[in-house]
Amino acid sequence: MDWGLKNRLSGIINQQNGKGVMLAVDHGYFLGPTERLENPEKTIKPLLRYADSLMLTRGVLRRCVAPESNVPIVLRVSGGSSILGEDLSKETITTSIEEAIRLNAACLAISIFVGSKYEHQTLNNLSKLVDQGEKFGIPVLAVTAVGKEMARDSRYLGLACRIAAELGAHLVKTYYCENFEEVVQGCPVPVIIAGGKKLPEKDALNLTFNAIRDGASGVDMGRNIWQSDQPVEMIQAVRSIVHDGLSVEEAFNSFFNKKGIPSNELETMNTR
Ligand code: R5P
Repeated sequence: MDWGLKNRLSGIINQQNGKGVMLAVDHGYFLGPTERLENPEKTIKPLLRYADSLMLTRGVLRRCVAPESNVPIVLRVSGGSSILGEDLSKETITTSIEEAIRLNAACLAISIFVGSKYEHQTLNNLSKLVDQGEKFGIPVLAVTAVGKEMARDSRYLGLACRIAAELGAHLVKTYYCENFEEVVQGCPVPVIIAGGKKLPEKDALNLTFNAIRDGASGVDMGRNIWQSDQPVEMIQAVRSIVHDGLSVEEAFNSFFNKKGIPSNELETMNTR
């Protein structure tokens, strides 16, 4: 593998333990001002020091992250549809490779919609992006986006992840599911998981723990961190599972109970 590409990847997935915590704040690219991400700068700032990498669009990067910050940037370069549009899968590449280089991106992120109306278009986008990324030593993260009608099971997610890897993605993001180890085994590049919709903290930590146990190389997590009432504690707890091998109980007690809030109260508080 090319030196530059390997160097960029090593900022995202730690080469010592093969794990990484990516903080996802790209949701506005199709959702607009999502709850608790209305002001991205305010959301990102306290969390940044705990993230191995930050996933976002160029617009939010330019306006909401200081250029002096040394966090590796995973630049989302696909989009073009909104939740109000015809079909979310109708995506195109929205940012040029020159712009990604100017922004010092460590990785390019693009969604693919396997099984959707625009499957061909999004797979074609991925292939072209890999060609461009490889030319300049920039790895590509394929985001296996799931349409409403798709089952998030190991057969479907395994298919989407494998196709992404076959087309040249260097890293794949998917969802945790039953028999997740089969998804990982069938995918020759590292697989990281999205957090998905906000869950009670302990459930999200459990999801993280199970994914790591079953072979994930880390998380690309958003809402379960910054929609928490205690986002800093949450990202630290996630980190402790991904990098330090803590159990769910250990992680939860280390970060959520340190202020002396009884854990049963905390769980109730966070499920509302
Ligand atoms: C979709 O909006 C993005 O690819 C997110 O970055 C991804 O879904 C991870 O965010 P979350 O953990 O909130 O699902």
